[in-house]
Amino acid sequence: MPATVVVGGFYGDEGKGKILSYLSVVDDVDLGVRGGVGPNAGHTVVFKGKEFKLRQIPSAFVNERTLLLIGPGVLINPEVLFNEIQITGTENRIYVDKNCGIIERRHIELDSSDSHLKGTVGTTGTGTGPANAERVLRKLKIARDVPDLQKYLGDVPEMVNEAVDSGKKVLIEGTQGTFLSLWHTDYYPFCTSKDTTASAICSDVGLGPKKVDDILVIFKSYVTRVGGGPLENEYSEDEARRLGMLEIATVTGRKRRSAPFNFKLAKRAVMLNSATQVAITKLDVLFPEASGAKRYEDLPRGARDFIDKVEDELKVPVTLVGTGKDIMEIVDMRKDKL
Ligand code: IMP
Ligand code: MG
Repeated sequence: MPATVVVGGFYGDEGKGKILSYLSVVDDVDLGVRGGVGPNAGHTVVFKGKEFKLRQIPSAFVNERTLLLIGPGVLINPEVLFNEIQITGTENRIYVDKNCGIIERRHIELDSSDSHLKGTVGTTGTGTGPANAERVLRKLKIARDVPDLQKYLGDVPEMVNEAVDSGKKVLIEGTQGTFLSLWHTDYYPFCTSKDTTASAICSDVGLGPKKVDDILVIFKSYVTRVGGGPLENEYSEDEARRLGMLEIATVTGRKRRSAPFNFKLAKRAVMLNSATQVAITKLDVLFPEASGAKRYEDLPRGARDFIDKVEDELKVPVTLVGTGKDIMEIVDMRKDKL
């Protein structure tokens, strides 16, 4: 720990919500800080038999002791935020930076009607692109100007730096994935409206690169993508269904397209994010016998070989492996190796 940044290594939906919430509980983090684009991201957290689908609130909310912060680089849709504060009961421990940009109805309308955004790019229609465009023009409303947000406002960079400087555990949450980055996408313009790599996530929350200890890049055991753009070795919908890889997107309800794990992309993601650790999620989809396993020894041979191959190719240790939906269904190789 002290300061760990978690980002997605492919096209989003790698299972960041699950890994983040697991870490918040097991490492007992003091601060969960969300960077990233905004409510276009859907993080799913299954905890104690309950499923949460969150778009604004840090996934670390499952630890009742953890303070929840949203960095100035993140866009806020107040309606979505208030609803999630209620669902999660986090009213008394959430802080929104005063400089967060605000999404308004007209941004959502444009995002879901513009032929380029909706038609070609296939955005989530949540207004993030148009709001970021307005932010660049310096016309966007920010959190400090919204009366209903006043009671949640804070100086997030100050809180994050103070926590890191005093040795507290800080978990910085990225959204989307490396190849949805506006700069580092593999297929422009099929990308989101901001950079999504670890450097950008740090900037979103106001933490300089020298203060980061660990960068955990999350890969799913296969690749998925929603919206437009090419996808290397894409499975047909029938094939994806047969393989158990046909997923439905959290925010938009669209079917996700899928493809096998891509080592070339994964290596590039390790490079772009300077990964110090890697997590692999949904290994139970590739290896059903791995379902629910919590120890490396309990994984089937094929699953262990896959993990070894990922370490060999990426030259970064695999520290966490997801084997089921619940946040506690994880093989934690940090523990295994202690
Ligand atoms: P936007 O971020 O809504 O502008 O959408 C741009 C592209 O990024 C589209 O292909 C979206 O499907 C994709 N995208 C944005 N956020 C996410 C996410 O959280 N998961 C997966 N894809 C996303
Ligand atoms: Mg998602």
